[in-house]
Amino acid sequence: MIFRQLFEHETWTYTYLLADPDSRKAVLIDCVFERHIRDLAMIRELDLSLETVLDTHAHADHVTGAGLMRLATGCQIAISRASGATGADRYLDDGDTVSAGSLKLEARSTPGHTGGCMTFVAEAQAMAFTGDTLLIRGAGRTDFQQGDPASLFRSVRERIFTLPDEFALYPGHDYNGRTSTTVAEERTHNPRLGEGIREEDFVGYMDNLDLPHPKRLAAAVPANMRCGAPGDGALVPAAPDWGPVVRTFAGVLEIDPEWVHQHRDALTFVEVREAAELDAGPLPSIEGAVNIPLSVLLDRHSELPTTRPVITLCPAGARSGQAALILEKAGFERVANLPGGLFQ
Ligand SMILES: [Fe+2]
Repeated sequence: MIFRQLFEHETWTYTYLLADPDSRKAVLIDCVFERHIRDLAMIRELDLSLETVLDTHAHADHVTGAGLMRLATGCQIAISRASGATGADRYLDDGDTVSAGSLKLEARSTPGHTGGCMTFVAEAQAMAFTGDTLLIRGAGRTDFQQGDPASLFRSVRERIFTLPDEFALYPGHDYNGRTSTTVAEERTHNPRLGEGIREEDFVGYMDNLDLPHPKRLAAAVPANMRCGAPGDGALVPAAPDWGPVVRTFAGVLEIDPEWVHQHRDALTFVEVREAAELDAGPLPSIEGAVNIPLSVLLDRHSELPTTRPVITLCPAGARSGQAALILEKAGFERVANLPGGLFQ
């Protein structure tokens, strides 16, 4: 199986990509609105076809990227029926299966953090995605969104800890840099839910956490109750639209070479080879390109006009990728790298 664990650093959220390597069909679990462009680039670069975006629950701390992902890829959105969310393509009940090619995920109801929480179990891969029901050495909070500590206790004990010992568990968040755990590990070491702890101990613990409400609660819950469909005035993360530009997983804006060829008269080209390379002899280049070596681009970018889109060039497209990043950071709104460079 193709597997990626991605991190969103503002809300400490994990997003998971799972894909069948033969059919290239993929499932994305708990993607984040603000990381849409990154996640889309990953799917594109791994040559995957996204079948379904899954949310383990209607989140309170961040807006799901599900709505944006459906708009971009045509995938389906699935979430538990018990979440009460509107706008999904599929509403999951306990025991339902979500598949992508040969990959199969069993949806298990694990309420407690919210009334609609699910854990997704990949039996063949011995993995489970627990959302905010079970965290590494912890548990999701239970003080809002139909949270119920007794029900969370039973979900973990009866639906997660009953999986085989060696199953790897992947949570929806971690606040201490931990990435995964196992059933046996949590049964032994989870200080809230491990063996020997009784339901009333857990309930007493959870009822007295006294945590502040998540900062984004007021905005996140209504947006997630419509599966992350962008509301009026929402700042939708998107690649620039002045040309066929994509942002790569590496974070660089890249433009379609054919479009560049057709629009060359309306563009500014900056090639970033160093002076010594220019002296060594001619390289295939584009007529009218301005040379500003990468090593001095940060100091000299004001020599470039901002009235036309700027395309960065170099022999292999690597240094010019860095150049595009530098110019974007310097405030150029229309800039992109020519991928593959001048030798393509
Ligand atoms: Fe949550």
